[in-house]
Amino acid sequence: MALIFTYEQSSLCDTHEVLTATTSLEPIIQEIKNAQSTAYNTPYAPLNLPFDTVMHRMVQECTEQKLALRPHALLIIGIGGSNLGALSVHQALHGLLYTMGNPSIACYWADTVAPDDTYALVQHMRQLLTAGKKIIITIISKSGSTLETSVNTAIFIHLLKEFHPHDYQQYIVVITDKQSSLWQHAQQESYTTLEISANVGGRYSIMSAAGLFPLAMLGINIHDLCAGAADVVTHTMDQGPTSMAATSAALLAVAYTHGIYIADLFVFDPWLESLGKWYRQLLAESIGKTSTRDGATIALGFTPTVSIGSTDLHAMAQRILAGPRNTITTFVSIKHPEHDIPVNHNQSLTTVAHIMHALLVGAQRAYQQAACPFTHCIMERKDAYTLGQFMQWKMIETIYLGFLLGVNPFDQPQVELYKQEVRKIVHDA
Ligand code: PA5
Repeated sequence: MALIFTYEQSSLCDTHEVLTATTSLEPIIQEIKNAQSTAYNTPYAPLNLPFDTVMHRMVQECTEQKLALRPHALLIIGIGGSNLGALSVHQALHGLLYTMGNPSIACYWADTVAPDDTYALVQHMRQLLTAGKKIIITIISKSGSTLETSVNTAIFIHLLKEFHPHDYQQYIVVITDKQSSLWQHAQQESYTTLEISANVGGRYSIMSAAGLFPLAMLGINIHDLCAGAADVVTHTMDQGPTSMAATSAALLAVAYTHGIYIADLFVFDPWLESLGKWYRQLLAESIGKTSTRDGATIALGFTPTVSIGSTDLHAMAQRILAGPRNTITTFVSIKHPEHDIPVNHNQSLTTVAHIMHALLVGAQRAYQQAACPFTHCIMERKDAYTLGQFMQWKMIETIYLGFLLGVNPFDQPQVELYKQEVRKIVHDA
């Protein structure tokens, strides 16, 4: 494994309770094992994605076809589970200044619709198209009916048609469920289409075409990403209740039963902020529920937060160390960063990596002194393989956590609720 997970001294969870929880995971582990041979027919379908070489080949072929058009930029339209996975891998590997560094293919993300922001993006896309630059528009939506995505799609396809009235279709890729009306529409318009399988929900879709196509377009090695994810599935199944996913899920479940309802992912690398937001969505939507699997009424859920090290030591740390003990923190750090910078500080030569490490260790010592529970995930390095491992670990952890807390981790009925209300308002207008 390219991930090291430590918790023994710091999680403050009772070892016996954790062991009882991990042992009780046996039935779901067996269920997942059984589902591994059934392709996409069960809710555990997302765990089969990293092994699906046929789908990987289709993504690769589509990427080559679109790169042959020599695009200057990729515009990704999608929101929530449909863009957060790809965005987090891209940001983790390419950083925050990517587009400023004049890359071979620039990338832009249209998720929400905000008048100023959408206007600025339209203006920028118009400038590029006016200068004769080509843009590939990728529309990602599992349901095919999310309002923000539909609105952005209408805006940017309209713009594209202005500049490519006769062949705009070749610049569009639609990634959706075959049952969606968006799929039907894309077929009628002869857009290139890639499928998200029926049992793969948005927040579990990073290893499907929804995550892989934009990443491949941006030059990220999707085979490494999937290899990392596949290795985690294999290890996790082999190790049963002693796996890292079983342990981390058990720690969260035990913490929850002791009134710890906030889960903070404290990433000690600003490039991991979107990864934190991806996990935030995964945990919030999967575990926040009004009823158990057996139909009993409950009000359950973690409040996931994302903190950025060391910046948020100057903000969040005060609340966590001083306030109610209702937060469990997972620190995430990189053991071998790709780069380092020497610095002469207080008349001694050190490096930025060394200082960052000191900040992390200092923070953890303070957490320990204040009896604030935490765990620590160390990524060996920040590459596609390790990110694939991290994301797959978190997805299995969340599925296990749903089982331990008695809820369905795959649905999101309350999200659907607001979507329906919004549709009524927009249609009534
Ligand atoms: O995880 C989920 O299911 C949601 O967050 C969706 O990803 C989000 O609402 C976007 O939905 P869609 O992909 O259908 O446009």
